[in-house]
Amino acid sequence: MDDRLASPGAGPDEGEVAGVDTSLRPTSLDSFVGQDSVRRQLGIFLEAARQRKEALDHVLLVGPPGLGKTSLAIILAAEMGVQITITSGPVLERKGDLAAILTALGPGDVLFVDEIHRLNRSVEEVLYPAMEDFQLDVVLGQGPQARTLRLDLPRFTLVGATTRSGLLTSPLRDRFGVVQRLDYYGPDDLARIILRSADLLRADVSPEGARAIAIRSRGTPRIANRLLRRVRDVAQVMGMRRIGQDDAEEALALLEVDQAGLDDLDRKILNHLAVTFAGRPTGLGTLADAVGESPDTIEDVYEPFLLQQGLLARTPRGRVATARAYVHLGLEVPRDVRAQTGDQSALFGDEPGATRGVVP
Ligand SMILES: Nc1ncnc2c1ncn2[C@@H]1O[C@H](COP(=O)(O)OP(=O)(O)O)[C@@H](O)[C@H]1O
Ligand SMILES: [Mg+2]
Repeated sequence: MDDRLASPGAGPDEGEVAGVDTSLRPTSLDSFVGQDSVRRQLGIFLEAARQRKEALDHVLLVGPPGLGKTSLAIILAAEMGVQITITSGPVLERKGDLAAILTALGPGDVLFVDEIHRLNRSVEEVLYPAMEDFQLDVVLGQGPQARTLRLDLPRFTLVGATTRSGLLTSPLRDRFGVVQRLDYYGPDDLARIILRSADLLRADVSPEGARAIAIRSRGTPRIANRLLRRVRDVAQVMGMRRIGQDDAEEALALLEVDQAGLDDLDRKILNHLAVTFAGRPTGLGTLADAVGESPDTIEDVYEPFLLQQGLLARTPRGRVATARAYVHLGLEVPRDVRAQTGDQSALFGDEPGATRGVVP
């Protein structure tokens, strides 16, 4: 199986250079599909900043991988008509790395720091006065001769992206004037994204075909685009001209993407909880060891979707598979699981994209 499919939302896409999708990425707020409240609010803040001829306030974008954080950062810069510099927390190893980038910014420019929760503390401390007072302290020399020089920076906009805002220190979080959370996309929005991408890729996909791909995309545009590309490959080799619902379903079955859009690792996680650990609440570390992934990846990439789908629950004693998960795996639901996690399908209905799951 294609290993890019095995890690949903993570890793770069084809056509993606340094994490920037060069072909399918929306470039204006209007071409950004869905996330209506985020789009509406950012639209207002952009308009206000443009009217005042000021830099946009610092923006923090929070959400699981592949939902459009990088795209939005690029859109914010484009809508403001300014330059964007793209970097990420782990890349900025020393204070000097950040200082070099900050001093190169022009007035109003956007600095996008991806994975901002992974900044090391000493680099993060350089950001505080930069964000708040647009000042940079540079230490010249060493030892008793060292002097601190204070430099003025242009008013710039920091756009930070993180998978979970809880991972940010509070001094950093508090310095963002705008915090926006991106949520998983519903099938209608995903189908629109797929049709738009199909157009750009010159693939002929019917609305029903797009929907078949959409409901298997884990609520994630990046996965929708990836599945579309793979379905297009299959269709091309099989000599299909227009990709309808059956064609898409056939291709997706070949790609081992199941009805609920769960991939191998999702199923492994649920299977371990339900079978290996026999329904006992399981700690994150134990679960991560069992499936051979890092705890961070489980928590940032896999778990949010399983929680949202009501397939996994977090209890004070650990993770458990819900009744819905047993049903999905074709297993009989043990009585105590039914009592503990309830029959989620009866409780919440079947509408995908609705918020479900037990979030502590
Ligand atoms: N709202 C959207 N409308 C259209 N395409 C989107 C949208 N959000 C994301 N995408 C597509 O999904 C891909 C991944 O988005 P990206 O911004 O890189 O996500 P993140 O930075 O949150 O991981 C982009 O290349 C883009 O093609
Ligand atoms: Mg990104």
